[in-house]
Amino acid sequence: MQDLFGGENVAVRAGATLLRGRALSLDTLLLAALERIAAEAPFRRMVTPGGFEMSVAMTNCGTVGWVTDRTGYRYDARDPARGLPWPAMPDIFATLAQDAAAEAGFPGFTPDACLINCYEPGARLSLHQDKDEADYGHPVVSVSLGLPATFQFGGLKRGDPTTRVPLSHGDVIVWGGPARLAYHGVLTLKDGEHPVVGRRRLNLTLRKAL
Ligand code: SIN
Ligand code: FE2
Repeated sequence: MQDLFGGENVAVRAGATLLRGRALSLDTLLLAALERIAAEAPFRRMVTPGGFEMSVAMTNCGTVGWVTDRTGYRYDARDPARGLPWPAMPDIFATLAQDAAAEAGFPGFTPDACLINCYEPGARLSLHQDKDEADYGHPVVSVSLGLPATFQFGGLKRGDPTTRVPLSHGDVIVWGGPARLAYHGVLTLKDGEHPVVGRRRLNLTLRKAL
């Protein structure tokens, strides 16, 4: 199916839609906003409850941010590394997420949390569910920038078969409804150099957490 922006919408499975190139025309604005956020709340590699340092470096913007440490996973209104609130969510992030969600069939999405992931070559994110949010009635919107990656999208059980979705600079993927609690992850990032973003992949994951 063809959307109003000339991009291609691909159904990954019921409730999950890839909006190919949906963020492409916004990349300069998104990256400038990202740089301001990371200057205020720097990327850091957090520790899982099991004591492992994640290979993906993270920061957040919005009313609350997703964090992990030895005590567990949670949304926190403060950045534990700085003891301060997270940077505000730029309007352009919220608008992009709201528009992308609506195009994927989830009108009225108003994110209050944006997790920002930074993958360097070799980094990966193992299969997991996003389930620290209060209400699974809201979708998740994920925006990819920089080096290409392979997204794994599975079912509601960890062992369910997964679909491999190649994600490139500017791609947006939205999942909600019957796919809201689907297992997903990112395969090990291959080395490369992106002309705009450099030797890394940046990902925005926008959610309504509260
Ligand atoms: C996530 O699952 O939180 C991030 C997915 C991605 O980096 O594409
Ligand atoms: Fe996730």
